[in-house]
Amino acid sequence: MEFNVAVVGATGNVGQEMLAILDERQLPIGEAFAIASRQSIGREVSFGDRTLKCRDLETFDFSKVDIALFAAGGAVSKEGAPKAAKAGAVVIDNSSHFRMDPDVPLIVPEVNAEAVRGFSKKNIIANPNCSTAQLVVALKPLHDAATIRRVVVATYQSTSGKGKAAMDELFTQTKGIYVNDSPTPEVFTKQIAFNIIPHIDVFMEDGYTKEEWKMTAETKKILDPKIRLTATCVRVPVFVGHSEAVNVEFERPI
Ligand SMILES: NC(=O)c1ccc[n+]([C@@H]2O[C@H](COP(=O)([O-])OP(=O)(O)OC[C@H]3O[C@@H](n4cnc5c(N)ncnc54)[C@H](OP(=O)(O)O)[C@@H]3O)[C@@H](O)[C@H]2O)c1
Repeated sequence: MEFNVAVVGATGNVGQEMLAILDERQLPIGEAFAIASRQSIGREVSFGDRTLKCRDLETFDFSKVDIALFAAGGAVSKEGAPKAAKAGAVVIDNSSHFRMDPDVPLIVPEVNAEAVRGFSKKNIIANPNCSTAQLVVALKPLHDAATIRRVVVATYQSTSGKGKAAMDELFTQTKGIYVNDSPTPEVFTKQIAFNIIPHIDVFMEDGYTKEEWKMTAETKKILDPKIRLTATCVRVPVFVGHSEAVNVEFERPI
């Protein structure tokens, strides 16, 4: 059996990586569709040794799609995912928009694949924030072995987490600093080259950032609501690759 797959956000960092992995894993894919915004209509993206021409999300007909991978941000998912789901595609959404919806399973396959059964309520499956995804994969076997009581995590997140424009800003600022240009922050709130910024997503009323809140809420939904978790999320001047320092307290000796 083959599946027709659409990648929404196919011109972006995440979409291009999705296409590369879909090809690398040699999954049973029938037709593949690259979807982006209107400005990218006709733009070519690579899918293995094939080239796909981008189509526009607004006019695309999802009725011929079995699986739609969304990686174009929360606002695009909010509008586009229900439309694709209604047309019959199973949506796997990479944005934060549906993650805490009780009718949408939040899945990391290595951790809670069984929860995917609930997907049919909305035909949408969410995946967590990048920092949560890598954290819960490490926590799951530890939780099974000794039951986690509390987690204190500090992240070191690369600019790739904020998209292509953010990586370009790091590159341009870094180059500029060597020739005495003054850096102008556009994507980040502060200079990112040769700097670290403890501010990812918006600040919330209690002083935590939304990124930090997401790590707590998503870990509870995926792994165990009883786990207490506090996070400090920091953007570092690195192109690709998030790191985390994690301190874990257990119920039983390990
Ligand atoms: N879960 C995770 O671990 C994780 C990690 C990183 C990112 N993300 C999610 O993935 C999203 C994309 O991240 P990225 O790093 O790939 O960003 P990016 O490099 O800036 O790419 C954004 C993509 O979204 C498309 N897009 C923007 N507006 C659109 C619209 N109105 N209709 C259709 N497509 C539209 C863009 O198409 P054009 O080129 O046509 O503008 C582009 O393909 C993020 O916003 C976030 O929600 C999730």
